[in-house]
Amino acid sequence: MTMKHIYQQGSNPNAPVLLLLHGTGGTETDLLPLAEMVSPGSSVLSVRGNVLENGMPRFFRRLAEGVFDEEDLVFRTKELQEFLDAASKEYGFNRSNVVAIGYSNGANIAASLLFHYKNALKGAILHHPMVPRRGLELSSLSQVQVFIAAGKNDPICPARETEELAELLQSAHADVSVIWENFGHQLTRSEVEAAASWFQKNFS
Ligand code: MLT
Repeated sequence: MTMKHIYQQGSNPNAPVLLLLHGTGGTETDLLPLAEMVSPGSSVLSVRGNVLENGMPRFFRRLAEGVFDEEDLVFRTKELQEFLDAASKEYGFNRSNVVAIGYSNGANIAASLLFHYKNALKGAILHHPMVPRRGLELSSLSQVQVFIAAGKNDPICPARETEELAELLQSAHADVSVIWENFGHQLTRSEVEAAASWFQKNFS
């Protein structure tokens, strides 16, 4: 397997497997407390991005803040998709029952999975995501549920970009919920609690 990761077997074999994707400079341990809050019985697959930017792990390269290296984004999205296929065989989980939880750069690669692969994820919790790519024709996401948490004063991800992402996903028939907070780019406890309620309503 080509990506550094942690796999934790959950107590509930029917609960979705949570795929955890950290932000820039994070590691596979960062979001473990979120999994515990969102779905304590779930198995967890937490992955570290394979790209390093000045020593900081990321899931794909960028040319500048907010400007993505599209070629690398496409390559890394495929790498993650193939890793998920391999991990499901290795650990014996249901590949069709994976819900991502991503923050920032991790939310962007999760959104990119949705943009590029029809059956990559059953659902996604995206904390402060951006539009991963523009000008792409999306496959139908009619069975996919997406929760987006955004900050009205997020300097990295402007509110308009969150709306654009929600519209793009909705136009592919995903079921999208967006919650707004009056903060910036930080991940807040209240948005994780909102994500947990959304998850429990939709997946248990
Ligand atoms: C990104 O590069 O994915 C976004 O700008 C968010 C970040 O990681 O800072």
